[in-house]
Amino acid sequence: MSDDSAPTCLADTWSDLSAKGYAITTDEALGLPEKFRANFGQTYFNDQVLEDDPGGKPPGRKRARDVILYKWRDGDLHVQEHKKITIKDRDGRPGEREHARVDLLNDPQAEELIRTLLSLVPPDQRQSDGTFGVNLFRTVKDVVTSPHHDHEELCVIYVLDRVGGGAQTQLYKPDDVSDQGKPTADPVLTHQLNPGEIIIFKDDLFKHSTTPLEPSSGETAQRDVVVCTVDYRETYLAPPALEVTGADGSNAVTGALTRCP
Ligand SMILES: [Fe+2]
Repeated sequence: MSDDSAPTCLADTWSDLSAKGYAITTDEALGLPEKFRANFGQTYFNDQVLEDDPGGKPPGRKRARDVILYKWRDGDLHVQEHKKITIKDRDGRPGEREHARVDLLNDPQAEELIRTLLSLVPPDQRQSDGTFGVNLFRTVKDVVTSPHHDHEELCVIYVLDRVGGGAQTQLYKPDDVSDQGKPTADPVLTHQLNPGEIIIFKDDLFKHSTTPLEPSSGETAQRDVVVCTVDYRETYLAPPALEVTGADGSNAVTGALTRCP
């Protein structure tokens, strides 16, 4: 178990991510304005934007979501709202779900955050076109249920505010977590992200988790985070897989749908 807490600038973040599969930095190191966290938190982490998630795991979490369609062209980043924000088969809940949508690109400060977080992907590892899932979460106790993959290319967690202790972000080697989500070895990283800190990691290299929030005496624990995913094309952009069931019930043909002209 280790605690790797040295904030790094963008170039260091790229090299850490390439070398270790994860990197930790801060909003300040990345050049976000000093008042960014307070302004962003005030604008979005309230009951007008965040909604309850009935049946959600963990219970009690409020959330909102956006999906950004991005393009890298000659080093320039172009962003626009994606038409869909549907989540499929996440958090151990099969099927499709819709959550409250917030169109972040209507807001210059939110666009600046999205551009900053997308820039954490090393230039040689960027997709020319892709989607970027952005989730706003307010949690009051359990942050996640057990170590898991998000099944996307990269995950980014940015802590805006935390009241209380605990909430240690943990990265495990995938083989060190049973299929039932029980760790069989210590995590390779345990780090309590403080407000302003950002972690990015390669989702396939780790199962990630966060320990429960621990209230301090006389306070109600609460943690506000932005959790993003650099998505695989299959999540929103690739054509859906075609499955044809044979007479014997087997998948006779599997492939990509060809779009008709
Ligand atoms: Fe996750």
